[in-house]
Amino acid sequence: MADDNLKGQRVLLCVGGGIAAYKALELVRRLREAGAQVQVAMTAGAQHFVTPLSFQALSGSPTRTTLWDSAAEASMGHIELARWADRILIAPATADLLAKLAHGFADDLVTTLCLATTAPITVAPAMNHRMWGHPATQANIATLRARGVQVIGPEDGPLAEGESGPGRLSEPGAIVAALSPQAESAVAIDQALKGLKVVVSAGPTYEDLDPVRYLGNRSSGKMGFAVADSARRRGAEVVLIAGPVHLATPAGVKRVDVRSAAQMREAVFAAFPADIYIGAAAVADYTPRAPAANKIKKSNESLALDLVRTPDILSEVAAQTQGLKLVVGFAAETENVAGYARGKLVAKHLDLIVANRVGVADGGFESDQNAMTAYWQDGERVFNPGAKTRLADDLIELIVERLNA
Ligand code: PMT
Repeated sequence: MADDNLKGQRVLLCVGGGIAAYKALELVRRLREAGAQVQVAMTAGAQHFVTPLSFQALSGSPTRTTLWDSAAEASMGHIELARWADRILIAPATADLLAKLAHGFADDLVTTLCLATTAPITVAPAMNHRMWGHPATQANIATLRARGVQVIGPEDGPLAEGESGPGRLSEPGAIVAALSPQAESAVAIDQALKGLKVVVSAGPTYEDLDPVRYLGNRSSGKMGFAVADSARRRGAEVVLIAGPVHLATPAGVKRVDVRSAAQMREAVFAAFPADIYIGAAAVADYTPRAPAANKIKKSNESLALDLVRTPDILSEVAAQTQGLKLVVGFAAETENVAGYARGKLVAKHLDLIVANRVGVADGGFESDQNAMTAYWQDGERVFNPGAKTRLADDLIELIVERLNA
């Protein structure tokens, strides 16, 4: 990457109130090294971590800290600043700032600037990993992405409070690289699925034994929902067939809720024709032959359940001929992950299978994290372990590649 990849760009850096604010000092230096003119605005919270004077010294311009600056506002300074910027970069973007941006608040200088500008906005979130994974924050991020806001990070790793997970501010060098025009052309992949319809299944299925009990599994739907969101952001029309989960619907995605494997099969086929099918759901392999009409009473020491196989939705999809361009399955295994996954790739006639180990901490079912390897007939790709949201982007990128292969 050229040193002056931001030459001539006017970047307004808005610093949010988190411990990662100290890294924003280095960010100013890196932005200027890359050729950008930099001005800095800080939230009140940010000023508890770093002083405006430090940013002033590094940026070479006065740091703006309040909407109520009578000298600056004599000439409507916030509007001028919003007009001046070629790009607004918010780093660190706290959960609170993301929520305010998503909902259009304008109760301080930074949020007002963001509402008043027509310049593209980039956010680099940083926060505790549970705050990042909270459905409210994820819904806010989805709203911002759908509005065209560029999101950089957060990264996985140790956090200030002694915990570990996705929440670290991306390194200043990586943020600057992601702002460069070269990186933006890479973002063109965002629309690589435009004009295509993608059907994604996610979550578990519940197979009813009687009116109060069911057979289910630990799938949370997080992986499938992240994949649906990623496909949508890349321009696809997305239908998400969701088993019983408690997740917010990604922006712009059509969601169909189902409970059992049979209902999921019906909903998947009702969503066709489509171009791509991604089976991330953990569909039950067996269902009771006949659910009891009334609650099963305990009587003997043991109880034998009479179960029958469910239809294999993925195999049926791969066998049908309604113009599908790519069929992608997942394999959740506790052992011999690669062997079983490759076996399913062949047996189910798939174009791609994504294998992940389940039954481990920090990955597989329920977790916000995962470790995955994708296999196709004559290749494989090991993804860097990390947040399911990032892995979903990596997978969609591979899907785009395989479509064009
Ligand atoms: O939901 P999360 O908590 O995020 O966890 C999901 C996950 C991270 C584990 C996810 O990545 C995953 O592996 N999902 C699929 C789990 C699974 O059911 O694997 P399987 O090996 O049992 O099934 C293989 C494939 O066949 C899957 O694509 C499944 O959707 C499909 N299948 C299975 C049975 C069936 N009757 N019909 C199907 O379509």
